[in-house]
Amino acid sequence: MNNRGHEFGGDWTEEKLKCVSKYLHSYAQIMKDRDFHFAYIDAFAGTGYRELKNDEDVEIPRFLAGSARKALEVKPPFREYIFIEEDKDSYTELKNLTNEFPNHNIACINANANQYLTDLCRSREWQTNRALVFLDPYGMQVEWQTVASIAKTRAIDLWLLFPIGMGISRLLRNDGKIQPSERQTLDQFFGRDDWFDEFYQLARQGSLFTEEDELEKTDDILEEIKQYFLKCLESVFAMVAKNPLPLRNSKNSLMYLLCFAAGNPNAPKALEIAEDILEKMQNTLQLTLPI
Ligand SMILES: C[S@@+](CC[C@H](N)C(=O)[O-])C[C@H]1O[C@@H](n2cnc3c(N)ncnc32)[C@H](O)[C@@H]1O
Repeated sequence: MNNRGHEFGGDWTEEKLKCVSKYLHSYAQIMKDRDFHFAYIDAFAGTGYRELKNDEDVEIPRFLAGSARKALEVKPPFREYIFIEEDKDSYTELKNLTNEFPNHNIACINANANQYLTDLCRSREWQTNRALVFLDPYGMQVEWQTVASIAKTRAIDLWLLFPIGMGISRLLRNDGKIQPSERQTLDQFFGRDDWFDEFYQLARQGSLFTEEDELEKTDDILEEIKQYFLKCLESVFAMVAKNPLPLRNSKNSLMYLLCFAAGNPNAPKALEIAEDILEKMQNTLQLTLPI
């Protein structure tokens, strides 16, 4: 078993997967009695499992189910599973899942998730198809055009890991002096460029001829980023959960927000179920910092 690149996450990874799994179970239960062909699409699928970081005195590594495997364990099963993984070695391992679950309809794809998903959203017929997409990147690999393509189908429910601390807030320098390439990265990530005015405020006015104005990040910047990203999602999705799950590392730093959005305005139950799961998860996390 290759463990390259898949020693990731701590307790927050379990919480993330637990949250998405709960939704998957509810979703499959509801969809089994409907006429739709419904698929689970894991666009950053990994290998199907993850290795727990070793304790120094524990020699045997421990493997836990990753998102793809957890989805295959859902009963009743989805009609179709699409697992996308860009890394060749991880993809090779991922394919073993097709042998382990021979009765499931599984397609493993070695591709860039953004490209593949955008094409799929365009080419599939969404009158009779439904899907649940999980976007679980390490950082800022999800492109806005992918999110917008998913929303446009009005037939996909989306769980998305938003790298609020892992990516976004690291790029936002305290003094607002952001390199053009980083600005472009943020523009592409949010699909718009008005984030700068939302995230920065005037700290000190420059004098008339000599100095530039000094900027600083707005107070409670993490809350600002969260609200801004929810606004971006609301601009394309019919429904967006107001209470994304904050995921923190062992030092209590906020790393990600697990967000939910649904494209079908005629299925309000989806939002209700997701917000309920998120609320219960949050209550059990005993958070110490507000967001
Ligand atoms: C956090 S891991 C996914 C973990 C997985 N969801 C699980 O629970 O086991 C992110 C994965 O996305 C893959 N990846 C990164 N960029 C990608 C891209 N643009 N398209 C597809 N896969 C990508 C990485 O190789 C890595 O395996």
